[in-house]
Amino acid sequence: MVDYKVADETLADQGEEALYIAENKMTVTAGIIRERFKKEKPLEGITIAGCLHVTKETGNLALTLQAGGAEVYLCGSNPLSTQDEVAAALVKKDINVFAWHGNTTEEFYWCIRQCLKGKPNIMIDDGGDMIVTAHQEFPELISSGKVYGCQEETTTGVKRFKAMERQGKLKVPLFPVNDARCKNQFDNELGTGQGVISAIYGMHILFAGKNVVIAGFGHCSSGMALRARGLGANVTVTEVDPINALKARFTGYNVKPIIETLPEADVILTATGCKHVIPPDPEVFNKLKDGVILGNLGHFDIEIPTKELYEYAEEIKPIRKYVEELIFPNGKKVYLLAKGRLANLVLAEGHPSEVMDMSFSLQSLMSEWIVKNHAAFKPGIIDVPKEIDDKVGYLKLDAMGIEIDKLTEEQYNYIHGFEEGT
Ligand SMILES: NC(=O)c1ccc[n+]([C@@H]2O[C@H](COP(=O)([O-])OP(=O)(O)OC[C@H]3O[C@@H](n4cnc5c(N)ncnc54)[C@H](O)[C@@H]3O)[C@@H](O)[C@H]2O)c1
Repeated sequence: MVDYKVADETLADQGEEALYIAENKMTVTAGIIRERFKKEKPLEGITIAGCLHVTKETGNLALTLQAGGAEVYLCGSNPLSTQDEVAAALVKKDINVFAWHGNTTEEFYWCIRQCLKGKPNIMIDDGGDMIVTAHQEFPELISSGKVYGCQEETTTGVKRFKAMERQGKLKVPLFPVNDARCKNQFDNELGTGQGVISAIYGMHILFAGKNVVIAGFGHCSSGMALRARGLGANVTVTEVDPINALKARFTGYNVKPIIETLPEADVILTATGCKHVIPPDPEVFNKLKDGVILGNLGHFDIEIPTKELYEYAEEIKPIRKYVEELIFPNGKKVYLLAKGRLANLVLAEGHPSEVMDMSFSLQSLMSEWIVKNHAAFKPGIIDVPKEIDDKVGYLKLDAMGIEIDKLTEEQYNYIHGFEEGT
């Protein structure tokens, strides 16, 4: 029997519509792979727990895993990204969902624990909270050998697991799906790049002519810089990595330390995976331009010093859904989007379905691959096999009706050889 706690079961019909919209765009995850999974049942008898943004795209991943025979548990990976209507629709389809929009930190972890009580063979995390909680609070699950393998969806989660591995604390095989080409080159760059549009909706301003500061020039942030420039903004990039800073400069952006950007910035958007990108210091806050918009698209709400800004502000006025006006003691006003959480998921519906199709095709095929090969795994980080990454690429091209060239034997031998030169 399905186990669940969601906000409002009466939203299920609305959620069904959302799932259908995404299904039509997720031609690989919800089309090709789901059809094969229905016939072959490669996940029969397997329990999978996902700690993911509960969106219409994630819903389709859950349904594909279920079509493969898995019992699926799902909780949210961010308190503000759950789409309540999708959660309700999934319960109707026998997915065990513990998620509702706006849950407290305590409730957030309660939902994770409910999923872990299902004793998953595979965990699919987005940010690391489920797998870290499993290590801290469910040691018997980790040591039982029941966990075949885990998958991590985002950069911040991968970083956390690398740190755990360095400290000898990672006790499960962990596949950093984020690092597969079919994930970060599309989901992070295109999805988060387009997330700039959600950030605009927060205040509905014209980007053209504005000074927009993008913190970071990695996968997400370089996509954001590109889209902001495309909208006509004068873009400045801040970085801590010398090579990415050079890439930004040679791509034509201004590059400066963040402090120097503050007096002129009309909009500041972060996606670094780092903490306190704007230093949490009242002297720094006073340098911000009056009326500046602050938005974060990185995983956690600490890139912009949200807590410290709330503490410093004399008045906090919600001016529309998930946009707050913070009035400083000197009378300056700043506008904070999405309470410093992922603006693209809080102010809008997250990444477009086409992009998530590729991320979730990887998660689906990796689940199948983990079930088939788990006997050979050891705890630690294991790269997603290139053949799975390539397979998703080929399936997506196929679904889009695009053919590409194939290497001839001669070409293959040439690029894998050394003999031929000048
Ligand atoms: N909003 C979304 O839907 C979404 C989607 C994917 C990833 N993410 C998250 O976005 C964040 C970035 O992911 P990514 O894949 O782009 O990572 P990345 O490693 O490719 O890029 C991060 C960049 O930020 C730079 N950086 C780090 N600290 C900085 C600082 N203090 N100031 C300026 N630059 C700094 C790094 O040098 C790097 O170039 C992560 O938290 C990730 O989990 C969000």
